[in-house]
Amino acid sequence: MTENPPVGTDLPVLRVAVLGAGTVGTEVLRLIAEQGEDLAHRIGARLEVIGVAVRDLTRDRGEFVPAGLLTEDAGALVDDADLVIEVMGGIEPARTLLLRAMEGGASVVTANKALLAQEGAELYEAADRHDVDLYFEAAVAGAIPLVRPVRESLAGDRIQRVLGIVNGTTNYILDAMTRSGADFGDALASAQELGYAEADPTADVQGHDAAAKASILASLAFHSRVRLADVYCEGITEVSAQDIAAAARMGRTIKLLSIVERVEDESGERISARVYPALIADSHPLASVSEAYNAVFIEADAAGSLMFYGQGAGGAPTASAVLGDVVSAARLRVRGGMGPRESRYAALEVAPLEELRSAFYVSLTVEDRPGVLAEIAGTLSGRGISISTIHQELGRDRSADGPATAHIGISTHRALESAMTAALDEFSSTVTVLSIDSVLRIEGD
Ligand code: NAP
Ligand code: HSE
Repeated sequence: MTENPPVGTDLPVLRVAVLGAGTVGTEVLRLIAEQGEDLAHRIGARLEVIGVAVRDLTRDRGEFVPAGLLTEDAGALVDDADLVIEVMGGIEPARTLLLRAMEGGASVVTANKALLAQEGAELYEAADRHDVDLYFEAAVAGAIPLVRPVRESLAGDRIQRVLGIVNGTTNYILDAMTRSGADFGDALASAQELGYAEADPTADVQGHDAAAKASILASLAFHSRVRLADVYCEGITEVSAQDIAAAARMGRTIKLLSIVERVEDESGERISARVYPALIADSHPLASVSEAYNAVFIEADAAGSLMFYGQGAGGAPTASAVLGDVVSAARLRVRGGMGPRESRYAALEVAPLEELRSAFYVSLTVEDRPGVLAEIAGTLSGRGISISTIHQELGRDRSADGPATAHIGISTHRALESAMTAALDEFSSTVTVLSIDSVLRIEGD
């Protein structure tokens, strides 16, 4: 058996290029500087940061990002590296730089979920073609180990479902709405003030960030290629203070859930991948995940149910995941061998949402007159949708001209998505239903 070589000047050196020195990159560089000796022991080689690519060379980035290492020439930097850490984000130039790095023989560690969800296939193929490694633990749920458990620890099991909260910004906003009764706009503004939400919060609040993570998890869990476009995605911008209050009345909490699962029906075995705000019971462990934390359940045949919880974002937590990958990739370069490759042998198709079944919460404003409830129940029963609970409140301004109104909140048993779409279409075309105020799914029961 070979032992770790002593840490000394005779250790091999791995040349590391860091692309990006923002929230995550700065922390990656701090950890490499502060833990250099430990990392050398663990890897059996020293990491030498040979450069840090940024856009703005003039900005002071603190003691761990020496100005002398900064460069605008990211292409030349990756050409000289054994290992490239990509924490710049976005599709281009990150995609071109990573392909160039792999072509030049460098292994790659990236935190870029958008790039993987959109261009994962091309990156995996490049890694294969050039016999280099592609690691991306930080791309899903920051510090929480999820990619490695799904890709490696559970590789001998059969995963049925991965369900969880993988976006901290939206969890912070929904949690603030739940705690304070604030509406979406005020909760978003407070999340931005506190630095949880970015100035442009679109990717988070529209669910795109969570959908990218869902596509990565689905691809790994089900050994199939699941692209970002395959993931059904609804964000939280339409969730209202009234929805939060209605959920509370039902003993439920609204969370933005990412769900990827195997589905088996008359069409055979397929995958469902979806992101939407959903009502879950207050007793469900995900209901108590507060602030910007993430939590994910994995259900596998032999392992049973596993829960992962922790910080899904932030410079240091994300850098922790990046460094874990750096150690893995660096060890392989020193001692030989390859990390896990893309596994897509199962080639399962993704089932369209309309072919799936969900329980729903629907809120309507209706005319308050005899027979209205019967009409609504008739529309639902005509589509095979069974009501579970119903709650009615009279409209507040009953003195004004026009019909008296009532607000009705209905929860249903599980029903086909296509049946609910048809029922909603019918509601839209009746004069009785004045507005469809919200449609949310109920999960986790
Ligand atoms: P960030 O703070 O915006 O930093 C991005 C860095 O990349 C900046 O230093 C920027 O340079 C540099 N950069 C961007 N485009 C560049 C280009 N064309 N050429 C050279 N340099 C360029 O981003 P971040 O929050 O650290 O996120 C980085 C990656 O980690 C993203 O893929 C993100 O999705 C992922 N991630 C982030 C978190 C998190 O909590 N922040 C968590 C998990 C994963 P300048 O500084 O000169 O502008
Ligand atoms: N913006 C993401 C979040 C962090 O709020 O969870 C990066 O994945």
